[in-house]
Amino acid sequence: MSMLIVRSVAEIRAQIGHWRAAGDNIAVVPTMGALHEGHLSLVRAAKGRAKRVIVTLFVNPSQFNNAEDLARYPRDEAADSARLEAEHVDMLFAPDIAEMYPEGFATKVSVSRLSEGLCGAYRPGHFEGVATVVTKLLLQTQADSAFFGEKDYQQLSVIRRLARDLDIPVEIVGVPTVREADGLAMSSRNVRLSETARKQAPAMAEALRAAGVAIEAGRPVSSAADAAKTTLLTAGYSEVEYLELRDAETLEPVSKLDRPARLLAAGWLDGVRLIDNIAVLPAH
Ligand code: PAJ
Repeated sequence: MSMLIVRSVAEIRAQIGHWRAAGDNIAVVPTMGALHEGHLSLVRAAKGRAKRVIVTLFVNPSQFNNAEDLARYPRDEAADSARLEAEHVDMLFAPDIAEMYPEGFATKVSVSRLSEGLCGAYRPGHFEGVATVVTKLLLQTQADSAFFGEKDYQQLSVIRRLARDLDIPVEIVGVPTVREADGLAMSSRNVRLSETARKQAPAMAEALRAAGVAIEAGRPVSSAADAAKTTLLTAGYSEVEYLELRDAETLEPVSKLDRPARLLAAGWLDGVRLIDNIAVLPAH
């Protein structure tokens, strides 16, 4: 059967009704399109978990704190739709802005604490925009499971929290980061890098890896983080917003590796904001 392309919540509801009546379980993969192998790994994980897979495609204006970033966001629904069809996705939900935010829309979902540091400190309103749209997508699709990438680790943490706090009956599944051969985490924004910057970009993954190994071997956290920041600036990054070790679950700062942690970074290269993170684990 070929993939359904649906633009309204009413059409989604009708289709889900048929699937539920047939006893099919449903997984959802929310995206903003410009699909790459990272997105497709979420789709494949979802296919492995549920009979029916819905991919959502919506470039959510409310999570862009920067108008230029929104304007420059890559869009190609025809290419995305062909890739999803090839993965045997059951439904593509691609609403327009008026369908998601009708006249008079006034509700916001805000996840305190988890949204505050790291990217939240540099992108005011971003996680409110994400939390609000993801809450809507989870309720619209009524999925049993929803798949998100560890690439956006803080986002994944915020979404786990909101699903728990609002008693949304969905399992949130995190999927490991898919990387290019040189280690760069795949991102829809990578296409904006110049040829030179593209060669410099993997320094972030490499600096995180080296710092993670050093911290696991006992190097003090602040010294390893400082060295990694210097590495990035030397490699061509113009700014490092943060490079920090955080508790893997609460995202509280970690100064001593006594529990599972995550080393997370954000930086600017060639006018493009790049993020990445890795697991850092205490010896046991
Ligand atoms: P987008 O950036 O399109 O990402 C969609 C999903 O793909 C997210 O869960 C993201 O973490 C995951 N992803 C992106 N790059 C990845 C990679 N290299 N490896 C594994 N997974 C990767 O994140 C968003 O859209 C939006 O904020 C959204 C959740 C759709 C809400 O608007």
